[in-house]
Amino acid sequence: MLYIGIDLGTSAVKLVLMESGGNIQKIVSKEYPLYFPHPGWSEQNPEDWWNAVQEGIRELIQDQEKDQIAGISFGGQMHGLVALDQDDQVIRPAILWNDGRTAQETEYLNTEIGKEKLSQYTANIAFAGFTAPKLLWMKKQEPENFAKIRRIMLPKDYIAYRLTGVHCTDYSDASGMLLLDVKNRCWSAEMMEICGVRREQLPDLYESYEKVGEVKPDLCEKLGLPAHVVVAAGAGDNAAAAVGTGTVGDGQCNISLGTSGTIFISSEDFRVDAHNALHAFAHADGHYHLMGCMLSAASCNKWWMDDIIGTKDYAGEQAAIQRLGENHVYFLPYLMGERSPHNDPKARGTFTGLSMDTTRADMTQAVLEGVAFAIRDSFEVAKKLGIQIERTKICGGGAKSPLWRRIMANVLGIAVDIPACEEGPGYGGAILAAVACGEYASVEEAAEKLIRVVDTVEPEPELCAKYEKRYETFKKIYPALKPLFQTME
Ligand code: XUL
Repeated sequence: MLYIGIDLGTSAVKLVLMESGGNIQKIVSKEYPLYFPHPGWSEQNPEDWWNAVQEGIRELIQDQEKDQIAGISFGGQMHGLVALDQDDQVIRPAILWNDGRTAQETEYLNTEIGKEKLSQYTANIAFAGFTAPKLLWMKKQEPENFAKIRRIMLPKDYIAYRLTGVHCTDYSDASGMLLLDVKNRCWSAEMMEICGVRREQLPDLYESYEKVGEVKPDLCEKLGLPAHVVVAAGAGDNAAAAVGTGTVGDGQCNISLGTSGTIFISSEDFRVDAHNALHAFAHADGHYHLMGCMLSAASCNKWWMDDIIGTKDYAGEQAAIQRLGENHVYFLPYLMGERSPHNDPKARGTFTGLSMDTTRADMTQAVLEGVAFAIRDSFEVAKKLGIQIERTKICGGGAKSPLWRRIMANVLGIAVDIPACEEGPGYGGAILAAVACGEYASVEEAAEKLIRVVDTVEPEPELCAKYEKRYETFKKIYPALKPLFQTME
């Protein structure tokens, strides 16, 4: 049988066609626009996602035996607010995970309601990108739109809704709304009250690997799908990527270097860090995970390469980097503010330590290192919780760079395992579909049978020691600049 995994990302949707045995037959990618209507705002048009998904499915399966296609599932960009009116029309553009407009609402939730209560209700505190502060923003700034809301959903759930007509979500993605009682896997009555939303506006909750419905018959015809294609709930992109890299069960780690950067630690038991610096979310395998998320990771490198130095030759630029661990330039990667662990939408990117002998290669290197140091910030929080991480998987566009993988292994001081398939969320989505169709008994079983590690980057003690010293300096830059960021327009 064949399974379609849909990775609904921020710059594009990637569709993966997987055979029962895990082999990827084909990958199709379709881009769509991302809008920044004000500094710090980030929006997309759900109709653009839907058009790209439809086009993508048609292209993906055009030369396949249609009857073989059994299931579809997702890894979707998290936290985005999609609101539909009573005619199922999208009320306003989706407000995305990296949107920083809700500084006031986040502050209100964390101070007036209080972090302790939020953590008790949801296992998390408010971060600007989460969905609940966006609802509060909409209620205050766009009351006429807020009054029209009939259904609230997350980005991938909009696609599931268009495919099946079922208003659903899964526990991993719902965890990032700040409306879910993560520990007890149910909507929080307190948070609904605080945000002024009713239960019937929220989607029904499913495990990521559960069937939510089938593709509507008229769409099967339109898209070239056979009848009765199963749609499984899917997961937030990080949980799906964790499935796609085999980061399931207890104590496994995955780092994703995509538009965002995340460190994801799977856990069989529910746990929260005392300061809520890491997100405590449900996992797509039916258990839980802790996650640190930085808002700009591979996107920092893309910005530096494409927009600033104006080249597409990423490998060529990286080939000029020869002095690892000795760079005198530091880069703060907070181009969209920062989530973990600083929770500061006003933080901004900086280069520090420039001198007359600074080269272009030093600055490129600083960008790659700055992202690795920022991941280390979250890694340190996990270590303080007593979590021992000795190795990690890695995925995402940035993980294709051997240099960046080496920097990551040495900044963190752990082995970095490269999975055979780098399509984290898309592959994870396809695996979830296969589980929903009964191909595998559980997500863990599927991961065990399908995921292979093809290479490992070991940390080098001498280089680790050099990076240890550099990290000590990096750590001091944000606190020194924080007061300035708060006053900058
Ligand atoms: C996770 C997060 C990002 C997005 C990117 O909390 O906000 O990783 O899911 O798509």
